[in-house]
Amino acid sequence: MKSPARLIAPSILSADFARLGEEVEAVLAAGADVIHFDVMDNHYVPNLTIGPLVCEALRKRGIKAPIDVHLMVQPVDELARAFAGAGASWISFHPEATRHVDRTISLIRELGCRPGLALNPATPLDCLDYTLPLLDLVLVMSVNPGFGGQAFIPGSLPKLRAVRERIAALGRPVMVQVDGGIKADNIRRVAEAGADVFVAGSAIFGSSDYAATIRRMREELAATAHP
Ligand code: DX5
Ligand code: ZN
Repeated sequence: MKSPARLIAPSILSADFARLGEEVEAVLAAGADVIHFDVMDNHYVPNLTIGPLVCEALRKRGIKAPIDVHLMVQPVDELARAFAGAGASWISFHPEATRHVDRTISLIRELGCRPGLALNPATPLDCLDYTLPLLDLVLVMSVNPGFGGQAFIPGSLPKLRAVRERIAALGRPVMVQVDGGIKADNIRRVAEAGADVFVAGSAIFGSSDYAATIRRMREELAATAHP
């Protein structure tokens, strides 16, 4: 089975929100593949960020890159609808935040977006038992959701390997996204464990040269063999 390409997905959580359009354009010009859009509701997670109007504003500004909406909200379905209408490309959600996981996945697909399931560090993989064939993306959280700039949790590495094994057994490509504490210094280990979409917020937006940071990440990725 051919593995999907490795993609760099800067999280705009660490961007300068006062200049968000420019920041998104700058990071895409610097070589980013996907824009990771963290949505927090001060209910599912103890923080509050941005909603569908901001996604729509980026589309109206002419942003064409995939927008990867990571919903850290409860409940999920109404906001998934709103984000699909606002131009989201991928929508992932946390299984414990919706009453009917299968229904929410189908809804996202019907809305024309690519569905993903997001797993917190303590979430077991059982929730993939009957859902993996329906997904385009598994998002492995390598920090607890709610804040940027946290340290990578090493237990995420065996978990990434286990998710990758399940996908290999499934025989159809599903992207494996890792989110939290990713930097040029650890991206290689994370890739070797099986991730192929790398979310990085503070490492990219906190650096003075986005292109140099993304280039360094790609050099690290080029030095690994895909599992
Ligand atoms: C955390 C978010 C992450 C976060 C990553 O809840 O889902 O996307 O922004 O930020 P860094 O890369 O700074 O850990
Ligand atoms: Zn995220």
